[in-house]
Amino acid sequence: MTEFNINISVQFYDMFELSESDRLLVEKAKAMTDTSYAPYSHFCVGAALALADGQIFLGSNQENAVFPVGLCAERTAFFAASANAPEVAPVAIAIAARNSEGFQSKPVTPCGACRQALLEAEMRFHQPIRVLLYGTEGVYVLPSMKSLLPLTFDGSELI
Ligand code: THU
Repeated sequence: MTEFNINISVQFYDMFELSESDRLLVEKAKAMTDTSYAPYSHFCVGAALALADGQIFLGSNQENAVFPVGLCAERTAFFAASANAPEVAPVAIAIAARNSEGFQSKPVTPCGACRQALLEAEMRFHQPIRVLLYGTEGVYVLPSMKSLLPLTFDGSELI
C-alpha cells in the first residue's frame, strides 16, 4: 500500500482585502439571493459568473415542488452563460447564501453537481475558474474549480 496526499490552497480574505473586481462579483452574488425562488428550503443562493471578455452572468437557485426539478444558483448562472456566450471562457464565480437569519457566517460551498458542471467548462476552455465563496466571516478564494473536485471524472475515457 502506498499513500498520497492531495493538497488544496484556500485563501481567506476579508471583503475589504479583495480586489475591486472580485468584491463587485461577490456583491452581485449576494444581491442575487434576492431573486432566489426557494419556498421549500428557504435557503437563498446567489451566483455571479465572470467571463474572459468581462461579461457577468447571474443566477439564483430555482426550486420546484418536484424537488429534483429545481436548480442551484451556480448552474443557473453557468448555463445562462454557456447558452448566451458559448465561446467565451468563464474565469471566476462568486457564490453567496442566506437563510431566514441572514447570510451564512461560514463561506458557502457548491454542491458536487455544480462542481462537476463548472469543472467541465474549465477543462473545455483550458482556463481555471477562480472561486469566491462568501461568508460574513470572510471570503474563501480558490484558484480553480479543480481544487474543489480532485480525482475528477473528466470524461476523457468516454469514446
Ligand atoms: N443550493 C444552491 O443553489 N447552491 C449550492 O451550492 C448549494 C445548494 C440550493 C439548492 C436548493 O434550492 C437549496 O440550495 C437547498 O439545497
